[in-house]
Amino acid sequence: MKNIVILVSGSGTNLQRIIDSIESGDIQNAKVSLVVADRECYGLERAANHKIDNVLIPRGKNFSSELDKIIPQDTDLIVLAGFLSILKPEFCENWNGKIINIHPALLPKFGGKGMWGMNVHHAVIEAGEKESGATVHFVTSGIDEGEAILQKSFEVTENDTAETLAEKVHLVEYEIFPTAINKVLGN
Ligand code: GRF
Repeated sequence: MKNIVILVSGSGTNLQRIIDSIESGDIQNAKVSLVVADRECYGLERAANHKIDNVLIPRGKNFSSELDKIIPQDTDLIVLAGFLSILKPEFCENWNGKIINIHPALLPKFGGKGMWGMNVHHAVIEAGEKESGATVHFVTSGIDEGEAILQKSFEVTENDTAETLAEKVHLVEYEIFPTAINKVLGN
């Protein structure tokens, strides 16, 4: 049984998707052993609803070292699912190859500092992109720079707004995140 720790900052619909995929057997041989949030958010409640251990470590310069203290050493995978803090380089190095993130765009485009949440979708619209999508990638110390694991795109139409893109991207995320997790776990 592989142990997954999930980090969240927000509503946690991707967290929910992962929990549901484990319960339905779409992700096999794995359990969510801990959910960690860097702020009060609904993601913590989702974990509690499924009786998953959950903890709040306030965001800030000590986040990574506090996380290091509580994360079970037998953790096989750390999943960033709508997580907004930047993890310290030492933490990323210690867990190299075992941290993955989902990004709401087609990396390497629209990644890096400031490219989070709705900022990404506004930037895609402003750039007049013909497609957008989501990327699951390994986390390294460079923001959004780790190797891509899975990516899926869709067409951006002239009626799309940042809001409609956010909805469409979420649907793509729900599709590729469980597949990417299976891939990394070797399922
Ligand atoms: C997702 O679009 C994810 O790509 C981005 O933040 C959003 C989180 O959504 N990093 P949710 O909290 O999983 O609903």
